[in-house]
Amino acid sequence: MLLLAFVPLLHSLLALAAVTPRDSAVLAGPIGPDCVDGAKHGGEARGTNVTFADVPTYYAEPSEPSSNVILFFSDIYSPFYVNNQLLQDYFAGEGYHVLGIDYFFGDPIQAHDGEPGFNQAAWIEKSRKQAAESLPKWIEAVQEKYGPEAKYTAVGYCFGGPYALEISATDKVVAGAFAHPSGLTEDHFQNLTSRSTYPLLIIASENDGAFPTASRNRAVDILAAKKAKYHVQVFSGVSHGFATRADLSDENAVWAKDQSARGVVEWFNRFST
Ligand SMILES: *[C@@H]1O[C@H](CO)[C@@H](O)[C@H](O)[C@H]1NC(C)=O
Ligand SMILES: *[C@@H]1O[C@H](CO)[C@@H](O)[C@H](O)[C@H]1NC(C)=O
Repeated sequence: MLLLAFVPLLHSLLALAAVTPRDSAVLAGPIGPDCVDGAKHGGEARGTNVTFADVPTYYAEPSEPSSNVILFFSDIYSPFYVNNQLLQDYFAGEGYHVLGIDYFFGDPIQAHDGEPGFNQAAWIEKSRKQAAESLPKWIEAVQEKYGPEAKYTAVGYCFGGPYALEISATDKVVAGAFAHPSGLTEDHFQNLTSRSTYPLLIIASENDGAFPTASRNRAVDILAAKKAKYHVQVFSGVSHGFATRADLSDENAVWAKDQSARGVVEWFNRFST
């Protein structure tokens, strides 16, 4: 019995070890129940299925010709989940080509809903591995299509947070953003600020077990010490997952979700023109 009780703990520790170098403090914890909780939204997605470097991708087309591109790194529900499709459609409506990489390759978390004996830790490890393997070639293929003149930005939610941050530490994007991340270390921020002009938007909730206030403050301390360009949004009365899976019957939750999406657009507009 005692051993069994330790199994979930062991799984979380293993998941953490898979994404965390030993020498860098954890700022956002591994995928947990908070990353699964939330409401499903309703609506008609307007985007299409495309492929870049053999990786399935959701594509939302801007309403007008544009040379601005948002790379969208989704939560564990994948870019093909209706909530994420509607969010990507919103960004497209604001004038961006939006490309959501499906690093789950058609196997998002909801495919295992209610599955007896589902090993979530193993699924996360597999998904992290797929993401690490597919992202470099996917980004290269996207940038080949839209060309060197396009302005690229990246936004990540939860599982996708680290990828938004990692690409923000390179010359490949002009700005980055992430909301309620999981799987971040201090290194992610140290790496980012080595390019001190590179702007980062942090979208956070007051109550977030995965990215608690102390970690958020630590991240800001690192950014400030490096004189990075950053902006932090903190929403009260919501928790991890609010930007993609808000309860639509809760006025405060809907406001936070919508305002965080507007925040991303305004942040990217500033650096994309
Ligand atoms: C697009 O891909 C998603 C994820 O693989 C799939 O669920 C959906 O049915 C596809 N849609 C079309 C129109 O092929
Ligand atoms: C930080 O940058 C170093 C050097 O490029 C790299 O090896 C490391 O993986 C990066 N860490 C993170 C968390 O991105």
